[in-house]
Order: sequence, then structure tokens, then C-alpha cells
Amino acid sequence: MGDVSVIGSGYVGLTTAVCLAHLGHNVVAADIDATRVELLNEGQVPMFEARMDQLLAEGLANGRLRFVSDSAQAVEQSHFHFMCLPTPQGANGEADLDALDAAMEELGDAFPTGSIVILKSTVPVGTADEVRANLLRPDVAVVSCPEFLREGTAINDFLSPDRIVVGSTNDRAATDVAALFATLDAPVLTMSNRSAEAVKYSANAFLATKLSFINSIARICEAVDADVLDVVAGMGTDNRISAKFLQPGPGWGGSCFPKDVAALSHLARSVGAPAPLLDAVLTANNTQISHVTTRIIQALGPRPVQPRIKRESRVGVWGLTFKANTSDRRDSPALEVVRRLQASGLTVQAFDPTVTEPITELPDLMIAGDPYEAAAGCDVLVILTEWEEFVLADLEKTAEVMRVPRMLDARNIFAADTSQLEGFAYSGVGR
Ligand code: UGA
Repeated sequence: MGDVSVIGSGYVGLTTAVCLAHLGHNVVAADIDATRVELLNEGQVPMFEARMDQLLAEGLANGRLRFVSDSAQAVEQSHFHFMCLPTPQGANGEADLDALDAAMEELGDAFPTGSIVILKSTVPVGTADEVRANLLRPDVAVVSCPEFLREGTAINDFLSPDRIVVGSTNDRAATDVAALFATLDAPVLTMSNRSAEAVKYSANAFLATKLSFINSIARICEAVDADVLDVVAGMGTDNRISAKFLQPGPGWGGSCFPKDVAALSHLARSVGAPAPLLDAVLTANNTQISHVTTRIIQALGPRPVQPRIKRESRVGVWGLTFKANTSDRRDSPALEVVRRLQASGLTVQAFDPTVTEPITELPDLMIAGDPYEAAAGCDVLVILTEWEEFVLADLEKTAEVMRVPRMLDARNIFAADTSQLEGFAYSGVGR
């Protein structure tokens, strides 16, 4: 089994490290954050992710996995080097490659002769070619192997992928990288580095397009008295369309879609192939966040009396993360809705299973200890993240503690069965 280094032990890096160790490889993972390295070596997982603690414990116990804070030390002992560094959004929408550039600069001389650098983070098309050109190490191959992990199901997505994409100009390196995943039951698609990089951006942009599309249809359905869930059922049974990734919501977010769609749009403009559709996908998402915010404000009462209502009204929020089963709030539509409600003068109190302390992004947001405390005294309750806890909540008790039992279910979690919602003025999205 190959010896592997993983540079960057954040979300993607840690998943890659624990899963490759699980597949039988010897993995040394590096991170510049010494505290994180220490915690990981003690088996403590710094994020909320199903099965991560189990695989981390397994790798540490069987000695296949360890963490260091010195990246050079990690690569010197390895043949494969997975670069899993953050590529955040830059000032003009472009991807910021500073972390990757700095690591390549630092590690350039440390890579053993004939070893293979593998770009796992999402990077703009052409990055691998640039990395290769700047590296000045013709003996070291640069392979693109984009990740398709979803937060919350990252381990399963890694171990049961739909496909593995390997981009390379060097056939032997491509074969060696594909062999790392040989025990997984998934097709390996080999192509150029540029095509592999384009696959990743295109997949995320397409999924975001699907979401902005269905949220637009949801708004139309509300206006024409149709039910978006029936529309999804009717459309999704067409196997050219599929019902996956067609659940309307308060808008989409997270650390990937917003930055990747913006980066692809930036790339499109910079190569003279503008893609207005991508800009519309971003605009439509903002429209959905505004639409949900407006619906909450409108639920509080008719327009002429709103200034008084605003001063006195209280909104309860269930869910702050950008989706369920993660503790990640980066680019969360829920936070944006709360921010806009507060800007309208409303008092907001929220519960999320992963949030126990006040959050720095929204210092005036009251954080409740349970769903009922968040609903207490409220004039409307809004569901912004689809946590299982909310489906299982005692709705009778919820209605009792509210000033007015109204609910806007922006994730349609109760859409399938509204029988428990007696006593609530209830509405979902797109219905
Ligand atoms: C996304 C992609 O799904 C992964 O394939 C990719 O590897 C990852 O980005 C990345 O580039 O690293 P993730 O950001 O974890 O994964 O989140 P998703 O599960 O894709 O959800 C994104 C947003 O869409 C969330 O706000 C979610 O609530 C929303 N969503 C998703 C909906 O509103 N409706 C749906 O039907 C599905």
C-alpha cells in the first residue's frame, strides 16, 4: 500500500486522511494549526461529521494514521501528496490560491524523487498546469483528483463514490493514483488535468443551478396556487431530470457552492466566454433568501401596521447551519435570513443543535437551549435547517409556548404530514 501525505487537515484533508488509512494506506497528515494536530493525535474530531471519530480512532489505533504540524516532514516520507488546502473566494469572485501557492513554494524541494502531487481542493481550470510549471521538478507528477464530498455524509461519499476523476498528463501517475482507490467500487474516469478541474466546478455549478431553478419554481407556485412538491414529483420521475437536489428551501449556501459558482463565473469572464446563467443562479439565490425573509415579515401582519408590529414582534428560528447534519454555518442562508430580519427591527431567537453559545456573526441573536425556548413568546416560528430534531419536536408544546402559533416551514419538513400541526397557522415554501 502506498505511503500518503495529506497537506491540510481541514474538512477535505481530514476526510481524505481517515478514509485512505481505512483503505489500508499509511497516512501522515499535516496542518499548520499545532493545537488541531495535537487534538487529532488524541482522537478528537474538530467538526461535526458522521463516522469521522470512528475512522480517526481506527487509524490512530492501527498506526496507519498520524498528524504532524511540519508539512515537509510529512511529504519527505511519502510517495503521494494530497493537497487539501482552502481555496476561498477572492475579492472579485476568483478563487484565492495563496495557501496552495505557499505550500508548493515551501515543499518544492521536499518532495521525494518521482513522487506524485495530487490536487484535491477545488481549484480553477489551469491550476495543475501552473503548479507543474512553477514546481520546476520534472520528476514530480501533478495529478488532479477533485473531491465530491458533501458535509454530513463525507465519509460515505468518499468510500462509496459515484466516480473517481483522475486528471493527468502522465499516464503512469494517473494509474498509480487510481490504484490508491482500487478497493472502491466506482468507475475511474481519466482525463487531462484541465478537464478534471472543469468537472468539479461544473458539477457544483450544475447542482446550484438545479437549486436556484426549483426555488424559482417554488416562488411561481406560491403565486399561482400550485404545489412545488407535486411539481418536483412530476418532474423528478423523468429520469433525464431526477428528483435529487430539487428540494426547495430558504436558499442554498455552504462553503462550496457560493464560492465555486462565483469562481466559475469569474473564470468564464476572464477567458472571454461569459456565462450569464451562472450570475443568474447567484442572483436567484439571493432573491430566494429575500423572498423567505419577506414572507416571515408579512406573516406578522398587514403592511400598514408593520412599524408597530416590528417593534413588538418576536421571531423564533429553528436551524442556523447551512444544512442539517453539519456544524458549518459558512454562507448559511439561515444566518442571512436572521440578519435581514434583525435589520428590519425584529427580535429573533434561535435554536440549532450545534450552537450553544452566542455567535460572533450575529451578536444580537438570542441562542436558545432547546427548540421550545426558541419558540417561546414568538409570533412566528421559522424552520431554516432540516434537522431531524425538529421533525421529532413536540408541536403541541411548541404551539403552547408561542404568543401566536404560526409556522413558516422553509424546508417543508412537515409537508408530508401536517396532522400534528393542528392549532398552527402553517405554510411551507412553494405551496
Ligand atoms: C457540495 C457538493 O454537493 C459536493 O459534491 C461537493 O464536493 C462539495 O459541495 C464541495 O465542493 O466541497 P456541500 O457544500 O457539503 O456539498 O453541501 P450540499 O449537500 O451540496 O448542499 C448545499 C446547499 O444546498 C445547502 O444549503 C443545502 O441545504 C441546499 N440544498 C441541497 C437544498 O436546498 N435542496 C436540496 O435538494 C439539496
